[in-house]
Amino acid sequence: MPGGCSRGPAAGDGRLRLARLALVLLGWVSSSSLTSSASSSTSSASSLASAQPPLPGQCPQPCECSEAARTVKCVNRNLTEVPADLPTYVRTLFLTGNQLAVLPSGAFARQPPPLAELAALNLSGSRLKEVRTGAFEHLPSLRQLDLSHNPLTYLSPFAFSGSNASVSPPSPLVELMLNHLVPLTDDKQNQSLEGMVAAALRAGHALRGLRRLELASSHLLYLPRDVLAYLPGLRHLDLSNNSLVSLTYVSFRNLTHLESLHLEDNALKVLHNGTLAELQGLAHVRVFLDNNPWVCDCQMVDMVAWLKETEIVQGKARLTCAFPEKMRNRVLLELSSSDLDCDPILPQSLQTSYVFLGIVLALIGAIFLLVLYLNRKGIKKWMHNIRDACRDHMEGYHYRYEINADPRLTNLSSNSDV
Ligand SMILES: *[C@@H]1O[C@H](CO)[C@@H](O)[C@H](O)[C@H]1NC(C)=O
Ligand SMILES: *[C@@H]1O[C@H](CO)[C@@H](O)[C@H](O)[C@H]1NC(C)=O
Ligand SMILES: *[C@@H]1O[C@H](CO)[C@@H](O)[C@H](O)[C@H]1NC(C)=O
Ligand SMILES: *[C@@H]1O[C@H](CO)[C@@H](O)[C@H](O)[C@H]1NC(C)=O
Ligand SMILES: *[C@@H]1O[C@H](CO)[C@@H](O)[C@H](O)[C@H]1NC(C)=O
Ligand SMILES: *[C@@H]1O[C@H](CO)[C@@H](O)[C@H](O)[C@H]1NC(C)=O
Ligand SMILES: *[C@@H]1O[C@H](CO)[C@@H](O)[C@H](O)[C@H]1NC(C)=O
Repeated sequence: MPGGCSRGPAAGDGRLRLARLALVLLGWVSSSSLTSSASSSTSSASSLASAQPPLPGQCPQPCECSEAARTVKCVNRNLTEVPADLPTYVRTLFLTGNQLAVLPSGAFARQPPPLAELAALNLSGSRLKEVRTGAFEHLPSLRQLDLSHNPLTYLSPFAFSGSNASVSPPSPLVELMLNHLVPLTDDKQNQSLEGMVAAALRAGHALRGLRRLELASSHLLYLPRDVLAYLPGLRHLDLSNNSLVSLTYVSFRNLTHLESLHLEDNALKVLHNGTLAELQGLAHVRVFLDNNPWVCDCQMVDMVAWLKETEIVQGKARLTCAFPEKMRNRVLLELSSSDLDCDPILPQSLQTSYVFLGIVLALIGAIFLLVLYLNRKGIKKWMHNIRDACRDHMEGYHYRYEINADPRLTNLSSNSDV
């Protein structure tokens, strides 16, 4: 398999190079688009704002604006880019149900005055596939961002932070919704959703102020190791309705302010000592664990003991086993350690069938031996016959060999040829 071994790393290198190239390109695109808008934009294709300061009270044509409520709604309009002439009073902006596809760098950056008041931005269900570096730059008051229900295939690691972490201020975001991020088609995915989201949450420690993070229903299979390490302000974390199998490698230790942790409707099998201790160490947390396929074997002993003691699991009496078969629907809290064993690895039916197979094989073997024993005279005779046949054959061979090797006979035959 040397071919297989050498192909893996090469492909990895290629991907790495592609990713670097992409980053460089992105940097170039963002810097060039910023300079183009600074030099009083001529390109109408630019999705950035025009240099014209917006008139007070104006409303972009496809939108509904309410100055009293400081709200702008551009909902279900099939917009392909963010309207350039958003009124500066806007605090709440709905851009849901559109066809944005790509959110470029500085998509909301406006020539002075900027959208300084914009606090809640809803981009739910707008077919976003790419959110690029610095997409939310120059929104100094943005507290709530909803990117749910978008088929994201590319989320820049610097989507929520500036691209230069050493100079960017921390993000003002307090609530971030990333629910139902399911790609429509799973081709052209540069990177796993888990990896992309984790990178964006980590970048530059910019999300220090984040208090609510929703990552529900996004088919997450795992949580990258330090995905939560740089979110020390988190109060509410929703990971429900994903496909998480294990929490063994993720750390909750730094989430000292965590108040709610939603893990319902995942594929969790058991929580191990390390996780249990970390959760127990969080002062204010409530944990939701319903509808997971708990496996009630000997590995479950620690979790059952913990459940009986802890007060942090909400509705802990509702948790039931899903496997093994004989334990199905048993309530976790009512199990004792004698219920939890790992010995019967094979189901009972399979075990009995193996025993049966063994007996049948033993019988066949015994009958075979018996036949041999009863037939021992015949077998002896048969062996003698074979020995004799062999001897005859060998003699014949020997005779022929000697004839051929006789030099006189060889000379004779060669002479006759001539
Ligand atoms: C948006 O596009 C869909 C499908 O192309 C169409 O049915 C709908 O009328 C469009 N909506 C608007 C507001 O143009
Ligand atoms: C964003 O808009 C969607 C669709 O209207 C809505 O379901 C969702 O609750 C909104 N998000 C927030 C944070 O209000
Ligand atoms: C980030 O900004 C600092 C200070 O302005 C500068 O020295 C550094 O080169 C920048 N880094 C990048 C990657 O642009
Ligand atoms: C990977 O991401 C980069 C950065 O946006 C993008 O330009 C490129 O098209 C993506 N590749 C694929 C195969 O989606
Ligand atoms: C759970 O996730 C699946 C698949 O993403 C989705 O179809 C379903 O509506 C979600 N359920 C809830 C209650 O959100
Ligand atoms: C947790 O917080 C500490 C101190 O704030 C920090 O040093 C550490 O890097 C953080 N991350 C993890 C995974 O502990
Ligand atoms: C888990 O912790 C309990 C109590 O601290 C201890 O008795 C048990 O042996 C531990 N289990 C494992 C697998 O280390």
